[in-house]
Amino acid sequence: MVHKVKAAVVRTKNADVTLETILVPDPGPGEALVDILTCGVCHTDLHYKQGAINDDFPFLLGHEATGVVSAVGPDVTEVAPGDRVVLNWRAVCGECRACRRGQPQYCFNTHNATQKMTLEDGTELTAALGIGAFAEKTLVAAGQCTKVDPDADPAAVGLLGCGVMAGIGAAINTGNVQRGDSVAVIGCGGVGVAAVAGAALAGATTVIAVDIDAKKLQRAKELGATHTVDSSAVDPVEAIRELTGGFGADVVIDAVGRPETYKQAFYARDLAGTVVLVGVPSPEMTLELPLLDVFGRGGSLKSSWYGDCLPSRDFPTLISLYRQGKLDLDAFVTERITIEQIEEAFSKMHAGAVLRSVVEL
Ligand SMILES: NC(=O)c1ccc[n+]([C@@H]2O[C@H](COP(=O)([O-])OP(=O)(O)OC[C@H]3O[C@@H](n4cnc5c(N)ncnc54)[C@H](O)[C@@H]3O)[C@@H](O)[C@H]2O)c1
Ligand SMILES: [Zn+2]
Ligand SMILES: [Zn+2]
Repeated sequence: MVHKVKAAVVRTKNADVTLETILVPDPGPGEALVDILTCGVCHTDLHYKQGAINDDFPFLLGHEATGVVSAVGPDVTEVAPGDRVVLNWRAVCGECRACRRGQPQYCFNTHNATQKMTLEDGTELTAALGIGAFAEKTLVAAGQCTKVDPDADPAAVGLLGCGVMAGIGAAINTGNVQRGDSVAVIGCGGVGVAAVAGAALAGATTVIAVDIDAKKLQRAKELGATHTVDSSAVDPVEAIRELTGGFGADVVIDAVGRPETYKQAFYARDLAGTVVLVGVPSPEMTLELPLLDVFGRGGSLKSSWYGDCLPSRDFPTLISLYRQGKLDLDAFVTERITIEQIEEAFSKMHAGAVLRSVVEL
């Protein structure tokens, strides 16, 4: 059976999001059909719309979602109809080089549903990050579903499906932030503020939030920043050094992903410290650094794919911390909107007015 549902699609580069009827097939082997409850608007959706990810238009946007499994393919055992799930965009294969050496968080062969969702005229859709959850129903690989506590607010926990997990994981998993560390986070949108919260959760004693937008800094303070730096007004490298005894932070997280912010992160870090790149650069960006500085400053320069998370381990843990009052996921939900308001949400994101707009379906 094919399901006809309402969904948010972008047909061509920079076109406005349009609401379309799409066709979603029943799940085949390894697949799950999910009724979407909520889906956050992430900067990556805007990157898709702008053609900054690839040119495989039309895109079915949305990838930060909670839903309820409504059907599964014949061989699926990990989830069942009725399960409340948070969707993830790195379903691990268990067989690649990374998985075989016990590092599934780096899986080199993550997968999505095999069957395609389409427009009514049969045009195949590219689902954003293999999810496509600005839709009443979506089809994913069963491994993209992580069963979670059905009593938790879907709008809040769904954000673990992308931005919030990427940020928290950038601090805890990739940056390996330890008790007593100093951490600086450059860019305090949904991802950066989550990195601030993750650093605080891991026991960092100095957590410096950096942004060019003062509104963002206020929110970062509410979520655990001990200091803030407005980098539109002061040199962030100098400011971070000053706040860390003149040395630089143990871990600096670039949650913007531009050459200039990466350089700031590189030089705002203490000797032998760690730089984590979690913001996603666009294809034309290049970086130039004196190689002697790369050698002389030591430490590690890491990228964080999805916060190097393991959804099966990290989603339930973070939801438990949320329910214990130790992680304020509610603070990330700035507004709840309808599927008709996605374009408006992009404008608000662009204007820096929201951490997350969450579509309720
Ligand atoms: N690595 C991953 O797995 C992963 C996952 C999700 C999102 N991302 C990426 O993370 C980045 C941030 O996403 P988001 O949803 O938080 O976006 P966002 O638009 O909500 O936030 C970006 C923030 O950066 C600030 N900013 C912009 N330029 C700056 C500069 N020069 N210096 C300091 N701050 C600056 C903005 O004011 C804003 O607060 C995006 O590139 C997104 O694609 C990566
Ligand atoms: Zn793998
Ligand atoms: Zn995202």
